[in-house]
Amino acid sequence: MLKSKEFIFATHNKGKIEEIRKILKPLGIKVLSGNDVNLPDVEETGKTFEENAYIKALAAAKEKNIPCIADDSGLCVDAIGGRPGVYSARYAPDRDFDKGMDKLLDEIAQSNSNNRSAHFACVIVLAFPNGTYRAFEGRVDGSIATKKTGSAGFGYDPIFIPTGYNRSFAEFTSDEKNKISHRGRALQKFVKYLSENEDL
Ligand code: IMP
Repeated sequence: MLKSKEFIFATHNKGKIEEIRKILKPLGIKVLSGNDVNLPDVEETGKTFEENAYIKALAAAKEKNIPCIADDSGLCVDAIGGRPGVYSARYAPDRDFDKGMDKLLDEIAQSNSNNRSAHFACVIVLAFPNGTYRAFEGRVDGSIATKKTGSAGFGYDPIFIPTGYNRSFAEFTSDEKNKISHRGRALQKFVKYLSENEDL
């Protein structure tokens, strides 16, 4: 049995919290959000997903003096050099992802590239108050649709079609998405690590 049955997940993003709770709840692991424990927002000054996830997880671990997790994730679009990548949240004007998706579709159209391939990436970091940490990566490949479809999920889901499917992530149930998503895959690695390190 794991000693630690409760983790603080240092995010205020409701979509992420819901996805993670759904995956960890059946394992008896409770997830508290940044809102639940009044975590202050931290500036994401890193240049990689891992750096940003570490910044967020470490700030929470130091503040609460217990191991904390955080993730950093984003959409990387090949036709525009892998952007918006780590800047995915900030890329959307006013953090409005409807506008963000329109902006992205315009930018891809202006790139004059026929390449619509893209991937979502996620790094989950488990940080300890002494600064040590473990990182778990997940990725899902796919392509950018020409228009938005579906209303489930969050962020850029309505324009992302995972490889092997003909519908967007916003047309997946949350269970279906969690099985193949970048965050789902990173979490599977995190859960495996927890089960192999029972003294955490
Ligand atoms: P951050 O990880 O909080 O910096 O935010 C990453 C941003 O990438 C989110 O605000 C979303 O816009 C986007 N993103 C990350 N994961 C997903 C996903 O599963 N679906 C749709 N958009 C996502």
